[in-house]
Amino acid sequence: TTTRLADYQPPVYRVEQVTLDVDIHPGQTRVTSELQLQHNPDSDQPAGELVLNGEALVIESLNLDGETLTQDSYHYDGHLLTVRDLPAQCVLTSVVTIEPEKNTALEGLYQSNGMVCTQCEAEGFRRITFFPDRPDVLARFTTTVHADKATYPLLLSNGNPVDWGEEGTRHWVTWDDPFPKPCYLFALVAGDLACLEDSFNTASGRPVALRLYAEHRDLDKLDHAMQSLKNAMRWDEQTYGREYDLDIYMIVAVSHFNMGAMENKGLNIFNTACVLAHPDTTTDAGFQRVESVVAHEYFHNWSGNRVTCRDWFQLSLKEGFTVFRDQSFSADMNSAAVKRVEDVDFLVNHQFPEDQGPMAHPVRPAEYQKIDNFYTLTIYEKGAEIVRMQYNLLGPEAFRRASDRYFEQFDGQAVTCDDFVACMEAESGLDLSQFKRWYSQAGTPVLTVTDEYHEGQYTLHVRQHTPATPGQPDKAPLVIPVKLALLDSNGQAVAMDEQGNRETVVIVDQSEQSFRFAVPEAVTPSLLRGFSAPVVLDYPYTEAQLATLLAHDSDGYCRWNAAQRLYFSALDRLVGDPGQAQSEALALKPVLERVIERAKEDPAQAALLLTLPTEVALGDRHSPLDPRAVHQARRALTGALGQVLEEQWQAQQQAWQRQDFSMEGDAIGGRQMRLLALGYLAAAGSAGVTETVGELFGHPLCMTEELGALRLLVHHGLPGADQALADFAARWQGEALVMDQWFAVQATCPGEDTVSVASALLDHPAFEWTLPNRVRALVGTLVNANPVAFHAADGQGYRFFCEALARLDAINPQVAARLANGAARLRRLEPQRQAMLEKGLQGVQQKASANLSEVLSRILTDR
Ligand code: ARG
Ligand code: ZN
Repeated sequence: TTTRLADYQPPVYRVEQVTLDVDIHPGQTRVTSELQLQHNPDSDQPAGELVLNGEALVIESLNLDGETLTQDSYHYDGHLLTVRDLPAQCVLTSVVTIEPEKNTALEGLYQSNGMVCTQCEAEGFRRITFFPDRPDVLARFTTTVHADKATYPLLLSNGNPVDWGEEGTRHWVTWDDPFPKPCYLFALVAGDLACLEDSFNTASGRPVALRLYAEHRDLDKLDHAMQSLKNAMRWDEQTYGREYDLDIYMIVAVSHFNMGAMENKGLNIFNTACVLAHPDTTTDAGFQRVESVVAHEYFHNWSGNRVTCRDWFQLSLKEGFTVFRDQSFSADMNSAAVKRVEDVDFLVNHQFPEDQGPMAHPVRPAEYQKIDNFYTLTIYEKGAEIVRMQYNLLGPEAFRRASDRYFEQFDGQAVTCDDFVACMEAESGLDLSQFKRWYSQAGTPVLTVTDEYHEGQYTLHVRQHTPATPGQPDKAPLVIPVKLALLDSNGQAVAMDEQGNRETVVIVDQSEQSFRFAVPEAVTPSLLRGFSAPVVLDYPYTEAQLATLLAHDSDGYCRWNAAQRLYFSALDRLVGDPGQAQSEALALKPVLERVIERAKEDPAQAALLLTLPTEVALGDRHSPLDPRAVHQARRALTGALGQVLEEQWQAQQQAWQRQDFSMEGDAIGGRQMRLLALGYLAAAGSAGVTETVGELFGHPLCMTEELGALRLLVHHGLPGADQALADFAARWQGEALVMDQWFAVQATCPGEDTVSVASALLDHPAFEWTLPNRVRALVGTLVNANPVAFHAADGQGYRFFCEALARLDAINPQVAARLANGAARLRRLEPQRQAMLEKGLQGVQQKASANLSEVLSRILTDR
């Protein structure tokens, strides 16, 4: 069934108060809910009938205002409960039973390593009890949890604990949340957990207890999350004037989790991968992820919880804004230039393909079948870019006034993306009506730019075009802010106006436009600085111009983009003709030498500039996809660059070698540079590299080095790789998150043989279908990051994938549907591969869950 934005109706009844009682027993949990209902005056439906969601609940009793409801006054079909003859104001009490032990879908109430926890967003609360499960029903929750004292010494829910007691071997705690909230923000945890406790004084002087919970063995991995949380709390006060509002802020780490983390009011629940961090077990990238996800969930307390979404079509209202906020936070905590390039790299390499494929949808979709399938890169990352463009259009001061207005005006309400933009308009005087097409129009706009120079006048001719996407054949022009500078022959930005500004923003808002600048000489345009809009830029740069941009541009994004373009043009020529790799590498040598020379200024930035595009990105430029030719081209260029710059790589890998561990920015960047240099040397078969990498693997300072060395050994097939894998597994078998990396290293080893390795790993004792992190580590990485294996000519990669999809779908439809996106390039494949994959997917489709079926049918009907 399809849900449509156009069909939105306000709720018929409001829920003023929910009193929940959750009685946890092995094999059966009893949930008693008392809903104080009130007819909604904003509804044009009369009081009388109420439809509540409830998924697979076993009813023990239903009671209206103290009277037991008989079978003829309600109807329950396993999904919806319809209750008739309700007064305008009443109390509906239900008693149902559920079985968290059997819940492998990880939605609603479920078990993870012996603890009981919840995931309610988007529509999980209906698997716990009957409720109008929609974000515009905001209720006050009081929750009592009862459980066995020994098994579950800790009983948590949202808000503050207000009462507790014991009943023999059992105990109970009552939690009260003073803030009305939609049920998707409900959370409950029962378990035997260790706690790291700290406190935070808010700007207005209120103390907040900070409690981070994890399994006892992981207590030593919570410090980084705690520091990140405190930084985020301070940052949100300083940057957005937003203070925390309860006396307690809790985070619980759970091993079984469908996504990254969840912002439940006062009680966040996190995938262990996004909260636990220790240098021995977590890579630098892992540390950065923890910092940003902790901040993201914290920021939701205002952008999401205090001000929430009217309906799920508005999901990006909270997600796009909150991603923008967490990106800004990480930029302030670390290197802003590096962070921006990392974010753009991610958007361009992951969201753009989504926007250009069968799953393309607007940031505010018009319809969906399962909202779970719309927790996408488009909603999150493109949504963040849309907020960023508004930030840049308004400037920091007006944007801050607009966000203040938004939080104040809509506090305690469920609102829309239009409401957000209206605040931006009100505080800036800008008319954003055309800008709002970014929310409703899917697809990546292509900006085609040409230029000319005549006697002191430089002209940019700009055309915009957004290709058709499923269901949206015709596109209107968007408002595209293009930040730009013009570089002279020395690579210096020239003055562009009388004030002497060396950078400007032009607004492209028609299909075709020209912009003129008075400049003294022909220039190289530095376009889309800071990635000022999420578009594909098509400008016929010469290689000399790209070399100038890479060497001299002051804008980090433009330098990175110049490097990418240089790599792509070399690689494009090598696809099908890898023998020319040496001469391509020699041509690149002088520009890359200059980048390497400057690596000491900012090693993380240098590592980004020196990293070749992935095989997936390269493959997307060649139609039909020829995964082997793409693989050979990239491999040949890596090896050739390793050779022609061997001395430089040697010098780098030595320069960044350290005796002591540090988490300083340069230490992290240095590790990236060193591993990158070793990768080029390994690809070139450079003498001594096996020993250096083996030494690093044997004596690492941290997991970044240990895992980096392992990856080099395995991916380059260096002697000792098998032994290293065995040693690593023996050493880390007790650390689930490290074992995920062990699986991922093997699944991403480029080569067709990897499919049989991965198939064998499905039978490894440490592999578990019920653990989403593990499935993603083994199956997800092969499908999404190892195209030469996934698209193996004999179809074994597709068989591996389709069998995994079917198997997983029976356990966890949400994660299966997410994994299915790996087939989104179906129609780009040559006929034989396409036929094999299509047949496999059709087979899976026959028994697919609603979640999986929506994704598969979009892929299969794509043309
Ligand atoms: N709101 C969460 C976040 O981005 C994501 C939770 C979505 N979960 C899901 N099963 N769809 O922070
Ligand atoms: Zn979020």
